[in-house]
Amino acid sequence: IEVLSVASELYPLIKTGGLADVAGALPGALSESGVSMRTLVPGYPAVTSKMTGGREVATFSDLFGVTGRLVAGRVEGLDLIVLDAPALYDRPGNPYMGPEGWDWPDNWKRYAALSWVASELGLGLVEGYRPQVIHAHDWQAGLVPAYVKYGPSATLKTVMTVHNMAFQGTFGSDIFGQLRLPPHAFSVEGVEYYGGVGYLKAGVECADVVTTVSPTYAGEIRTPDFGMGLDGLLNNRSETVFGVLNGIDMGAWNPATDTALTQNYTANSIQGRQSNKRAVQEAFGLEASDGPLFAVVSRLTWQKGIDLLAANIGLIVAAGGQLAVLGSGETALENAIRGAAQEHPGRVGLVTGYNEKLSHLVQGGADVMVVPSRFEPCGLTQLYALRYGCIPLVSRVGGLNDTVIDANVAALQADVATGVQFAPPSEGALADAIRRTLALYADEKTWKKMQRRGMKSDVSWETSAARYAQIYASLTGYATHDNQ
Ligand code: ADP
Ligand code: GLC
Repeated sequence: IEVLSVASELYPLIKTGGLADVAGALPGALSESGVSMRTLVPGYPAVTSKMTGGREVATFSDLFGVTGRLVAGRVEGLDLIVLDAPALYDRPGNPYMGPEGWDWPDNWKRYAALSWVASELGLGLVEGYRPQVIHAHDWQAGLVPAYVKYGPSATLKTVMTVHNMAFQGTFGSDIFGQLRLPPHAFSVEGVEYYGGVGYLKAGVECADVVTTVSPTYAGEIRTPDFGMGLDGLLNNRSETVFGVLNGIDMGAWNPATDTALTQNYTANSIQGRQSNKRAVQEAFGLEASDGPLFAVVSRLTWQKGIDLLAANIGLIVAAGGQLAVLGSGETALENAIRGAAQEHPGRVGLVTGYNEKLSHLVQGGADVMVVPSRFEPCGLTQLYALRYGCIPLVSRVGGLNDTVIDANVAALQADVATGVQFAPPSEGALADAIRRTLALYADEKTWKKMQRRGMKSDVSWETSAARYAQIYASLTGYATHDNQ
């Protein structure tokens, strides 16, 4: 099966969060299931600079008022089709915002163009290439299913994956006239959303299949609290909405070979983490202590519940623990952590900015990875933590619920616990969970057992890649390897 994936970010070329990791890992994970996947990405400088050996396969003289071309080639093991349109994408840094932190005002056009080009590819724009399914990720590719629905092809199928309901790509109705859609597409069955245009809404409405990145989140988004306006729509088509859990790239995230670590280790040599712990302490300006080292690697936003953790820093420090935070985001949250670092020198450290290498070291050296999210479609940091023997302490929502087994009495007795969960996402519930974590840490034997179990739990793509392959196959009438 030939599938075109459409993503606005892609590891290892350009990444702001988990979407990049997933879009970058899927093609490799799917190849064993008989799916051939190419990825269409915007030609940001970070992408075009790597695309040196590419081949021009199409040109556009009027791409929403600008010129552009498609360049196909292989970069970092990925089959890419790059939309090189400098007027839209030749901007350094974050793909969505300018240097002042504001969204680019023409984002509607930048991602409409990307989606329109995807649908053209689906119609056979490039000779010798004709995908049967287009897999659109998040609002940036949300118009793909609309272009396909209102286009001429009766066979082309679309899958819309929602990585985060909180980002919907909503714009005023004034842009509709420029979207190259027929007038009747501005309707409830099309792109219209509360009087404006909704890109994610369009995708969720028009795609043949909608997926999201964990089974629990797939259920949650059918409720008003998590659906963020799209719950009704999802309920109406619930038989074609699936939760497919993310996996991780087991090669890029492997403590036995990871070059970002000062010492590599396996489940049988967990003591190797000790020297990584020292390196983390050094990197965050912390004392060389043997107390429990809590860590965060995250966007610092309301979604991630960082304020709940900030309110509990005193508790961690009073118990002899430390906290290392790697992340950037909302100023107030950054300041809260920075303030705590000043108040507790050597015990609390903050590194702002984006640092892929340091994020690996933290997983390999910290004792506890805290993910106190208010909502979490899947979450990848707790999966990396499991793989690295760093105990995840997570709120019981979304993918966090599906991937971490809470160390309650029954789970400990049955020898299945891999972390600590808490609910609801509140300061008090997190405080209780921190106390439970401290008690577990003090019990060295139990702690080691949990670490080993986590390291052995399956966080790979295997099961989920097969599930995606099955979804594509069901849409195209193909039999998959599994049921042949
Ligand atoms: P989200 O996509 O909502 O941000 P995920 O847990 O799915 O959350 O993915 C976050 C990804 O971004 C992970 O790969 C994590 O390691 C990475 N990450 C987040 N913040 C940073 C940072 N400051 N430096 C390096 N990596 C980061
Ligand atoms: C989103 C979600 C995160 C998920 C990631 C990849 O950014 O916030 O939970 O892991 O997408 O699917």
